[in-house]
Formats: sequence, C-alpha cells, structure tokens
Amino acid sequence: MPDMPVLDHILFSQEQLKTRIAELGRQISTDYKGKQPLFVGILRGSIMFYADLLREISIDCNMDFMCLSSYSGTSSTGEVRTMLDLRESIKGRHVVIVEDIVDTGLTLDYLTKNLQHRGAASIEFCCLLDKPANRKIEIHPKYVGFQIENEFVIGYGLDYDELYRNLPYIGVFKK
Ligand code: IMP
Repeated sequence: MPDMPVLDHILFSQEQLKTRIAELGRQISTDYKGKQPLFVGILRGSIMFYADLLREISIDCNMDFMCLSSYSGTSSTGEVRTMLDLRESIKGRHVVIVEDIVDTGLTLDYLTKNLQHRGAASIEFCCLLDKPANRKIEIHPKYVGFQIENEFVIGYGLDYDELYRNLPYIGVFKK
C-alpha cells in the first residue's frame, strides 16, 4: 500500500482494472461488430479508462471527446455544463459514451438530453464505476466495470479537487 495520507485503502488494483476493462472491450467489440461505433470520452475523469478501454476494442471505431464540469470537492454542484463539445456530427452513428463513474446520474441525464436530438442511430453508456446508492435520477448504463459503495474514490482519472488523477489504481479517499 502506497504511503498516501489521503488514501484509506485501494479499491481496485492496476491488475483488477486491466482484467475487467479487457472483458468490457471484448463485450463491446462483439456487440458492435460491423457498426463502427463512435467512442465519446467524457473529459477529464474518463481519460485513463478511455485510453485503456479503446486498446481492448478490436473492431473499427472512431474517437471523439466532450468536456463537462459539475463537481467541486467531494460533492456535485448539481449543475452540469459543456466546456467542450463534440467535433463531429453523430447523425446516424452508434455512439458509446465512456464515463468514469455514475453517481447521482445527473451527468448521464444531461448527456442523454443534450445528445438525443442529434440523430444518433443509438447511444449507450459505458462507465467504469457505478455508485447506485447516491442516484437522484434513475439511469442504468449498459456497460459497467464495477459497482461500488457510496464512497468517494480517487485515482485512475478520478480526482479530488483536481488532484490524484494520475494514480494508477482506484482508492477510497480518506476524509
Ligand atoms: P453524477 O453527475 O453525480 O453522476 O457524477 C458524475 C461525475 O461526478 C463523474 O463523472 C465524476 O467526475 C464525478 N464523481 C462522482 N463520484 C465521484 C467520486 O467518488 N470520485 C471522483 N469523482 C466523482
């Protein structure tokens, strides 16, 4: 265990993340065979997950990104904003939104509303972590890496006040 005062314990090691992400990659590659999906990474939290997941995708696909903001410290501000929008049109495309974690569900709800009028052939969510205990809006991502308890986690792209995104594992934040 690394000597980090802010870390209570490690929840998912690098090996556990790698194994589960490889499974997700295989499943998505099978489900989207022949569909050339567009993977949309939600910045900044999904960056590590996105990069590792896409390396496990074995079919033709495209990449794009959106940058959203909603969190400050360990609680959601409740207001989601688009800081950077998609570069390409999603008309007729099979879109897979890649997100780090679903907590209240406000971000996924915002994305659903924001993208539904853009004419995509389909839109699904792939989230590394799912924290169902804290949901404000009922939403069920199709692809989920791990379900977790209602704890604040850091690392592997996830931050606390813009710190700790660079940790290669996911750990529980010590309050
Ligand atoms: P939601 O809109 O409440 O579902 O939250 C989604 C966003 O909140 C995620 O994309 C994360 O950036 C952030 N978030 C939620 N829970 C955590 C956490 O435990 N650690 C770090 N960020 C989190």
